[in-house]
Amino acid sequence: MISEDNLMKELISLDWDFSDSKTESLHSIHPYPAKFIPEIPRCLIQNLPIPSNTIILDPFCGSGVTLVESQRAGIESIGIDLNPIATLLSTVKTQELSPQFLEIALKVFSKCATYKKGVIIPPIPNLDHWFKKSVQEGITILLTEINKIKDERIANALRFCVSSIIVRVSNQESDTRYAAVENHLERNDVFSLFKLSAEKLWNAKMHNQLEVPSRIINKDSLQLTKADIGKKVGLVITSPPYPNAYEYWLYHKYRMWWLGFDPLEVKESEIGARAHYFKKNHQTADDFIIQMEKLLRSLASLCAKGAFVCFVIGQSKIHGEIIENEKIIANAALKGGLTHIATIKRMIRSGRKSFNLSHARIKEEFIVILQKQ
Ligand SMILES: C[S@@+](CC[C@H](N)C(=O)[O-])C[C@H]1O[C@@H](n2cnc3c(N)ncnc32)[C@H](O)[C@@H]1O
Repeated sequence: MISEDNLMKELISLDWDFSDSKTESLHSIHPYPAKFIPEIPRCLIQNLPIPSNTIILDPFCGSGVTLVESQRAGIESIGIDLNPIATLLSTVKTQELSPQFLEIALKVFSKCATYKKGVIIPPIPNLDHWFKKSVQEGITILLTEINKIKDERIANALRFCVSSIIVRVSNQESDTRYAAVENHLERNDVFSLFKLSAEKLWNAKMHNQLEVPSRIINKDSLQLTKADIGKKVGLVITSPPYPNAYEYWLYHKYRMWWLGFDPLEVKESEIGARAHYFKKNHQTADDFIIQMEKLLRSLASLCAKGAFVCFVIGQSKIHGEIIENEKIIANAALKGGLTHIATIKRMIRSGRKSFNLSHARIKEEFIVILQKQ
C-alpha cells in the first residue's frame, strides 16, 4: 500500500491546471456558474483511497459534476444544494432518463405549437422588462403542458430543458450580462429551442446512463444533520460559495420564478452572496469564518476514519481587502477536528471564467486537502 507521504507527493506532482479540458455534452446543455471541470473530482476520486462502505458527498453540488464523476467511478454519492435549479440539474444528470423521454418531449412540442387556448401568465416581478409577451406565452404554455405529465422523472427532465433556455429567450443580453436588449424571438421559437435542448439532453444521456445511486437534497448545508446523510462519508469533494464572488440566486433568478420557486428565499441563506457584503450592517470575512467552522465541524462528524475532505476555493476581495479563503478553510478544518494534508494551487484558464469578476480574484484557485485521522 502506498504511504501517505508518497500519496501526497504524487498528488502535488499532478498537473491540476487541465488547460486542455473541454466541456462535455452533459454539462454544456444547461449553464451553471463556477462549475467544476470534471477532471478535478475525477482526479481526486482516482487518487485518494476511500474507506469501504462509504459514500462521496458534495455539500455544494451545484450542477452535479462531482456526483456524475462518482457514478462513473461506481461509488454512491449524495449532493446538497440550497438552490433548486442546482438540485434539478443534479437530479436530472444522475437519474436514468426514461426511454420514453424523447417521444414525450416531441409530443409536448407539437401540442405547444398548435396550442389555441387562452394563456394566463403567472405573476412574476418585472416580467415585462425581461420577457416579450409572446415569449411569456410560450414559456407558460410549455410549463402548463409539462405540469400535466405524471412521471415526475420525465417532467423534471423537461423542466431542465425549459430552464436551460430561459435566459436565451429573455431580453437579457447574455447569461453573464444583466442588461435588457431587443429580442426578435417569437412564441414558436421558444418551443423550437426547447425541442433542441430536449434532443441534446437525450443524446448526452444516451452515453451516460449510470445505475449507481446518487441522492440529491435541496437544503442549506449549514443545517446538515446525520439523519440527512444516513451513511458514513468516505470522501468529500466540493467547491463552496465564497464571499463576494458569484451570486447563484441572481444568475438563476428568472429560472426560479418560472419554475415556481422563490429566489429571494434562496438569496437569504446563500453563503457569500454579494448583497450580504454591500448592505448596511454588511457581513465580513468573520461571518464566512463562522459559517465554514460550522460546516467543517459537521463534515468531520459525518466522515469515516481516514476519509479525505477536499475543498476547491479561490480568494476574494471584500471592500478592497484580499481574503485568503484557502487559509480560512484550513484553519476551520483544524478547529473541526480534521488534519490539513496539503494545499495545491491551480491556474484557471481565463476563457473559463463565466463572469467579469473584477471584484474577486479568480485567476487561480486552491485545492485544500484535509483528512479525518
Ligand atoms: C461553486 S458552486 C458549486 C459548483 C459545483 N461544484 C459544480 O460543479 O457545478 C457553489 C454552490 O453553493 C451553493 N450554495 C450557496 N449557499 C449554500 C448553502 N447555504 N447551502 C447549500 N448550498 C449553498 C450555490 O447554490 C452553488 O450551487
